[in-house]
Amino acid sequence: MHKVIFDTDPGIDDAMALLFLHHHPDVELVGITTVFGNGTIEETTRNALYLKEAWGIAAPVARGAAAPIDPARTRGTPPRIVHGDNALGNFPLPDRIAAQPDPRPAHHFIIDAVRADPGNVSIVAVGRMTNLALAIAEAPDIASKVRQVVLMGGAFAVPGNVSPVAEANIMGDPEAADIVMTAPWKLAVIGLDVTMRTVMTRSHLAELARRGGERVQFLSSISQHYFDFYSRFLEDGMAVHDSCACAYLVAPGLFTMRSGPIRVVASGIADGQTIQKPDGRRFPPNAWDGKPSQLACIDIDAEGVLDLIGDTL
Ligand code: BDR
Ligand code: CA
Repeated sequence: MHKVIFDTDPGIDDAMALLFLHHHPDVELVGITTVFGNGTIEETTRNALYLKEAWGIAAPVARGAAAPIDPARTRGTPPRIVHGDNALGNFPLPDRIAAQPDPRPAHHFIIDAVRADPGNVSIVAVGRMTNLALAIAEAPDIASKVRQVVLMGGAFAVPGNVSPVAEANIMGDPEAADIVMTAPWKLAVIGLDVTMRTVMTRSHLAELARRGGERVQFLSSISQHYFDFYSRFLEDGMAVHDSCACAYLVAPGLFTMRSGPIRVVASGIADGQTIQKPDGRRFPPNAWDGKPSQLACIDIDAEGVLDLIGDTL
């Protein structure tokens, strides 16, 4: 059984990933922590509370960071063109949501949950890495207490999606991402190298919605906006970025990983780039020396992951 804190910015593909975790028999959701990104923190927290209520998720929602850790960086404008004006594909949401957030900020929730159950709690983070960076900076002891951290973010051998080198979750807070990548916890990074190859077609999701009931029909409705956005890049379908990170947690055999320390560029024209120094490669002294070796995903059984997602939803 995987006890999971889901750190997220819902977000259309985030919503699918949340339903995957909620439905997977080997996962127990212990908390949902929100972060700015696909919407403002008010929007992503409202969306998480809405999904919690609509799907009967018992785990609490804790509201997280509203902006990057470096005050010199702006939080940027949410990508309305990707996730819609409310970050859930413009699906009409109720004015009032009864569910209330946990009183703790997200990074305190993370610290408390990991300390309360050492060795058993995993974190799957699919938005800006700000909450995780705040948590590890305040409580370095959680590095050895967390079971593992799985991130959706980065682009290692492929172009980024917000610059030629940067992926959105990293670019939204590169300083935080570098803290998270270089912390001494067990970390796996699932980036655009494989998520852009894990594409669910409109007809596949429509079929799942027919078989899967109201919750999957909701996912299908909110995803129409996402499909329209992706029609600029893909012949048919949408990349299920965040669900890939959740699939790794329960089925790592579907992923090929490369080990080596990972750094994030945090200035200049390559701002937001993720670079891994593969273990075993020798270079003159450099910024990767002394940093912990982590896993970056370099290949995926995309069909296997899509089947797992479909069966689980
Ligand atoms: C990531 O950015 C967001 O748009 C998605 O939710 C995903 O987490 C992909 O770059
Ligand atoms: Ca996301």
